[in-house]
Amino acid sequence: MKNVLFIASEAVPFIKTGGLADVVGSLPKYFDNEEVDARVLIPKYTCIPWELRQQMVYKTHFYIDLAWRSQYVGVFEMEYDGVTYYFIDNEFYFGGPKPYSWIHEDIEKFAFFCKAALSAIPVLGFKPDIIHCHDWQTGLIPVYLHERFAQGEFYKDIKTVMTIHNLKFQGIWDLKKVKDITGLADYYFTPDKLEFNDDANYLKGGIVYSDKVTTVSPSYAEEIKTPFYGENLDGLMNAKANNLVGILNGIDYEAYDPKTDKRIKHNYDQVTFRKEKYKNKLDLQKELGLVEDKNKFMIGIVSRLTDQKGLDLIAYVMDNLCSDDVELVVLGTGDEKYENMFRHYDWKYNSNVSANIYYSEDMSHKVYAACDAFLMPSLFEPCGLSQLMALRYGTVPIVRETGGLKDTVEAYNEYENKGTGFSFANYNADEMLYIINYAKDVYYNHKREWNKIVDRGMLTDFSWKTSAKKYEDLYKNL
Ligand code: ADP
Ligand code: GLC
Repeated sequence: MKNVLFIASEAVPFIKTGGLADVVGSLPKYFDNEEVDARVLIPKYTCIPWELRQQMVYKTHFYIDLAWRSQYVGVFEMEYDGVTYYFIDNEFYFGGPKPYSWIHEDIEKFAFFCKAALSAIPVLGFKPDIIHCHDWQTGLIPVYLHERFAQGEFYKDIKTVMTIHNLKFQGIWDLKKVKDITGLADYYFTPDKLEFNDDANYLKGGIVYSDKVTTVSPSYAEEIKTPFYGENLDGLMNAKANNLVGILNGIDYEAYDPKTDKRIKHNYDQVTFRKEKYKNKLDLQKELGLVEDKNKFMIGIVSRLTDQKGLDLIAYVMDNLCSDDVELVVLGTGDEKYENMFRHYDWKYNSNVSANIYYSEDMSHKVYAACDAFLMPSLFEPCGLSQLMALRYGTVPIVRETGGLKDTVEAYNEYENKGTGFSFANYNADEMLYIINYAKDVYYNHKREWNKIVDRGMLTDFSWKTSAKKYEDLYKNL
């Protein structure tokens, strides 16, 4: 039996800005209880919904030194869906409307979080064999553990795993300031440790000092060893290659189940989708003011609107894409240039394009359920959960062959009756448009084939079953 403590900056249902929260909030539920007792520790942000905050039970508090000040650390606990969650409270750091703000603030916030989290472990009443860290916000944990905590009896046998959900974000800031904030000795700020092009890099620290590094798909684990995807850490990734493994994400098959989902009106499964799924399309067309026609090819996008997601390819071909036989539904927030781009086309092709520039869990489920196809032409994609949600809801993914997209979507092959979606290789707008048009042709002119693609997609299994087992094995072998 292994005790594993996940430490992260997000977890559903408390706080979510992307797929990281889905993973941290669902994977712990799917371990074999006899093998792994997994618990989760996150910040107690004031923007966590009140209904949840109110259920958190105060355990204790103490003070730590950080950035030349003494800082309050409150520790709270609550059980959710069978998993024990711990929360670190400090309203100075975790106040405000969002979990993240400017990088210089976040750098101090997550230095505090890492130090506070490690200091809190002895009072949790749960001694982890393994601390499983996620992304740059927790990068300092293996470093602090090495520095001072490892010297204490309590900490000395704790192992660490660092999972990279996105190598693009590393937590980089001025070296002198980081030294000041963290109180770490000069020894840690050399190019083989936290230093990175004269700055300090949290994720790099986490990678260097953890016992095992994982990322969220086998393809991404390979890609980040190359300069194109390596975000200037490809050298380190190659050096760590023996200790780096890609384990594919799953999704929560209870929360994302078209058969029982309360957020959609017409439930369906792999047997009934032909008769039921389109009703969700009609509902959504009505709700969003689109032309109401059950036969119209509806493409969905649910995404952070950033360069990572390949939106410049879409912008480039919008006028070609928006023909009368296509409807496009977008749900997302992010870079202003993309938000405004979609707003513009919503205005220009009002009855065929709907830009929903906001964040809504409810609306996302409606889009996954209503659309025929789901577009995700990412420039890079460590794993991607949206395409897995789309597959689960019988919505055919159209993706670029990169990272987790490549590992989860099998390209349609009309000669061999194979495939669960459509894909293209090069980061090229015309190539993408060609594939979308191919999908559209199959949808309109070979409906039986289309339905077989849906059928095969709904039969794939991207629940946590397989991947949770892989993490269990990894913990066992540490
Ligand atoms: P990333 O973590 O890079 O954003 P993923 O595909 O791994 O990409 O996960 C994205 C998650 O965020 C999915 O659960 C998706 O449904 C959700 N999501 C993204 N944008 C929105 C939005 N505007 N409203 C609701 N959910 C969203
Ligand atoms: C990151 C990646 C995404 C991945 C998610 C969860 O946000 O961008 O591809 O699915 O983390 O691991």
